[in-house]
Amino acid sequence: MTGLATLFRQTKSPTNKKSFPKRDIFIPTALSFIHMPEYRFNLNGENKQVSASSNTTLLQVLRNELGVFSVRYGCGKEQCGACVVLRDGKSTHACTALVHECQDSSISTIEGQQHPLQQALIAENAGQCGYCLSGITMTAITMLEENPNPDRKQIQEALAGHLCRCGAHNRIIKAIERVIARG
Ligand code: FES
Ligand code: FES
Repeated sequence: MTGLATLFRQTKSPTNKKSFPKRDIFIPTALSFIHMPEYRFNLNGENKQVSASSNTTLLQVLRNELGVFSVRYGCGKEQCGACVVLRDGKSTHACTALVHECQDSSISTIEGQQHPLQQALIAENAGQCGYCLSGITMTAITMLEENPNPDRKQIQEALAGHLCRCGAHNRIIKAIERVIARG
C-alpha cells in the first residue's frame, strides 16, 4: 500500500470502525441555569412579557424577542434617531432605554400606527433606503399631535435629532407639510 493510501485508510478508519460511542446524555446549555427577570409592557395595544437581563435595551427586546424590525439600530448613542419609539406617548431612544425602565409602560412603534403621514411619505417618495423613516415618522407624529400646524423651522427643529444618511430630508419635510396642508 502506498503512503497516501495508508493515510487515507487511517483517516477514514475511526468512523468506519464506529470508534466514537453514542452518548445519550442530556447536556443542558449554560443559559438554562441563568434566571432572568421578567418584564411586562404594552406594545401597540398588546400586553407582552419578556425575560431579559437587567442591562438589556428596549431595542434588543423589540427586535430580538418580539420581532419588531421597524425599530432600527444606528449609532446606539442617541445621536441618529433610527431607534425612536414612543414610550407613554413620548419619543424614546430604544437603543439606550433599558427594558426594566419600561416595566408597565405603553410602547408604540410604527407597526401600531395608522397616520396620514405614512401615505404622505410614500406620495413624496420620501424614503430612499428607508432606514431612518420609522424613527422620523414616530417623532413627526408626536410633533403633529402637539402642534398640528408647525412651520418649516419648527419641523426642522423637531427632526434635528434624526439623521437621514440618504439625504432625503427635504422630501421628508415636504411629506410632513403635505399632511399639514390637508389639515
Ligand atoms: S440607534 Fe438610537 S439614536 Fe441611533
Ligand atoms: S432614507 Fe436612507 S437613511 Fe433616510
